[in-house]
Amino acid sequence: MAVKSSKKNGGKKLLQSRLQIGPTTNLTKCTKCGMTYSPSVIDDTTTHKNYHEMHLKGKKWPATWGLGISLPSSDGSTALTPPSSSSKRGISNTKAERIVMVRSDHQPEVRTTLHILDIVNDELHAPHNENEFWCRPNSNGKAFLYVKEDRAVGVITVELLKPERCRWMIYEDRSIVDGVEPRFILGVSRIWVCRTQRNKGIATKLLEAARSNTIYGKTIEKWAMAWSQPTDSGGKLASHYNGVRHKSGKLLIPCYI
Ligand SMILES: CC(C)(COP(=O)(O)OP(=O)(O)OC[C@H]1O[C@@H](n2cnc3c(N)ncnc32)[C@H](O)[C@@H]1OP(=O)(O)O)[C@@H](O)C(=O)NCCC(=O)NCCS
Ligand SMILES: [Zn+2]
Repeated sequence: MAVKSSKKNGGKKLLQSRLQIGPTTNLTKCTKCGMTYSPSVIDDTTTHKNYHEMHLKGKKWPATWGLGISLPSSDGSTALTPPSSSSKRGISNTKAERIVMVRSDHQPEVRTTLHILDIVNDELHAPHNENEFWCRPNSNGKAFLYVKEDRAVGVITVELLKPERCRWMIYEDRSIVDGVEPRFILGVSRIWVCRTQRNKGIATKLLEAARSNTIYGKTIEKWAMAWSQPTDSGGKLASHYNGVRHKSGKLLIPCYI
């Protein structure tokens, strides 16, 4: 039986298991990705190899895929740039770090992003069916990837919010503030950075790219970005990025339901 486990989701344990008929096998737990599996079962070893690689290092992303976005400058602004034609001529800058917007009418890009999000949702213990808003042509959300050395190492998916979904959340106890109807514009549905690339500012750059490039020609204010049930580390990122100190002294996070 292969078991993936993670304690990232507010201490909740993530378990994904497959039943295996046959003799009892020795289980081992990978200290790097946290997955428990049976090295003597080929299926288990393959499952672990894929999860491990993706979880630690992200997923291969060809140089010609995605619409290029300039990396946020020091003042936080970003702008769309045309897709690199140089890579088509074979002069790709594979070492560069870049942010791309996934083109919803390019099936290979969408399929690969959905695969990345499968791993993300496993880690977050989140539903796997919340992609419609970015992966359908003409939908009003977007997915952006952070690509480093030809691998997608981070992802953010964002959706435009209806006013009735917006709420304030008190950071300390994660409770929702009743009776107040804030108006936020963009919801962060998923944000994830592969394990070896965390704490390098990548999530912050993805947030900046999303707020400048989701609505054409408009940069959304930081305070109008809301979070969907932030995890422990997501809550820390949110409080750092756009948490607001209320006069009561409590830290409020813009969120949506
Ligand atoms: C949350 C996550 C996306 C942050 O990515 P990241 O690229 O490491 O974040 P950044 O480097 O841009 O962090 C920016 C700031 O947020 C804070 N922060 C982010 N993650 C933190 C963590 N786990 N613990 C403490 N602070 C954290 C830091 O204060 C950091 O500021 P600093 O530059 O002063 O150190 C990443 O940890 C992750 O993928 N976690 C698993 C998935 C997840 O929980 N996603 C959130 C869903 S709501
Ligand atoms: Zn592993």
